[in-house]
Amino acid sequence: MKNNNYQAEYYKIKMVEPLKKTTREYRKNLLKKIGYNLFYLDSKDVFIDLLTDSGTSAMSDSQWSAMMVGDEAYAGSSSFHHLEDAVKKNMGYKYVLPTHQGRAAENILFLIMIKKGDYVPNNMHFDTTKAHILHKKGIPIDVVCDEAFNTTSNYPFKGNIDIDKLKNLIEDKGKDKIPLVMITITCNSGGGQPASMENIKKVRELTKKYDIPFFLDACRFAENAYFIKKREIGYENKSIREIVLEMMSYSDGCTFSGKKDALSNIGGFLALNDEKLYIEGATWLVLFEGFITYGGMSGRDMEAMAQGLEEVLDENYLETRVKQVEYLGNKLLEANIPIIQPIGGHAVYVDVKKFLSHIPQDNLPGQALAVELYLEAGIRSVEIGTVLAGREPITWENIHPKLELLRLAIPRRVYTNAHINVVANALINIYKRRENIKGYKFIYEPPRLRHFLARFKPI
Ligand SMILES: Cc1ncc(COP(=O)(O)O)c(C=O)c1O
Repeated sequence: MKNNNYQAEYYKIKMVEPLKKTTREYRKNLLKKIGYNLFYLDSKDVFIDLLTDSGTSAMSDSQWSAMMVGDEAYAGSSSFHHLEDAVKKNMGYKYVLPTHQGRAAENILFLIMIKKGDYVPNNMHFDTTKAHILHKKGIPIDVVCDEAFNTTSNYPFKGNIDIDKLKNLIEDKGKDKIPLVMITITCNSGGGQPASMENIKKVRELTKKYDIPFFLDACRFAENAYFIKKREIGYENKSIREIVLEMMSYSDGCTFSGKKDALSNIGGFLALNDEKLYIEGATWLVLFEGFITYGGMSGRDMEAMAQGLEEVLDENYLETRVKQVEYLGNKLLEANIPIIQPIGGHAVYVDVKKFLSHIPQDNLPGQALAVELYLEAGIRSVEIGTVLAGREPITWENIHPKLELLRLAIPRRVYTNAHINVVANALINIYKRRENIKGYKFIYEPPRLRHFLARFKPI
């Protein structure tokens, strides 16, 4: 059995937070009250919270103790220098602009790089990346490899960019219309799938040829490096630190959310190698985030991130992390539940088109499954499907995304495998009675960001 290769956690627990169990009746009434949108749930009513892996990590004793020495000076904070040193040492970039979280780094980068009508290719843009490009009147384009859309293929690097698609785009639009190329590692919108070193290197070669800057959306850079070590020939004997430094060396900088692979609850940064871009970015940073030695963070936050950037490169930690996600995925596969394969780095993605094949996309099957999982066992997950995709701007029809998914994002160092068993068992129970599950319709739909604020009712 695949599950047997799961090792015990490489940490022990010294602080706990109680969880409340609720009854099915309580959850049923609550769901009605909140309009069946799990974003409206109070976390005290959630038994296992798999809404996101962002900002939900358990910090280590070393992170908590580092916070105690946070330097809260407005200018010249020593905590900023600790963060800056960690980024320089572990990622190899020259300049660091601290921000309150990842999307703020995107805002600064795109402000200094994008002009109206420019195209920005990425394997698959994350929502905030896409929204910030659109905000600067740019056009986000996904050029991920076709394998990303085949949920059952075991292609090891579904986060790869299709080099031909990228080359054709550059040739077609002209290099002057493409201010930068990005790769998101790992590719969240495509199921937490990694990009290979070979692919990152090829993107570097192509962008160099056309003199286009190349940036990483590096939120889950360490998880990506772990997959390279495990799956790419030639990297099996390299350390995670070596792999990370090589990956980053092919890029001109990165946007980063500390809420993922810095094991922190808040924070982010924009890292750069070009001095001119850094100086320009710094002026916007002061306007939108704060002075250049704290950006949007307190000294305490910067200390926690600096320490997290060390801990995340520990291969034992990464093994515990990735294998726990794999453990959940394998349990579901054994019960024939359709999920995206290979299993991603931070989440398991259920293929809802197959799970609830009797519910058409307009009846919001992903939302229906998310609601059912909460009802079954108090587990909060998130729909990544028709509700999230929104509507066509002109026809106002629902966009029907190619992938209709339910994401089970696993917070780092938070849950034990006993919790994971509860999640697997709940989904297996639902799968057995899936034919009885009905779709949902909107009763309130805001003009934008409907995923967060909409209310529904069962059909
Ligand atoms: C791939 C990716 N990029 C960017 C972001 C934005 O980061 P933040 O939530 O810190 O603004 C996220 C957050 O989930 C992400 O997953």
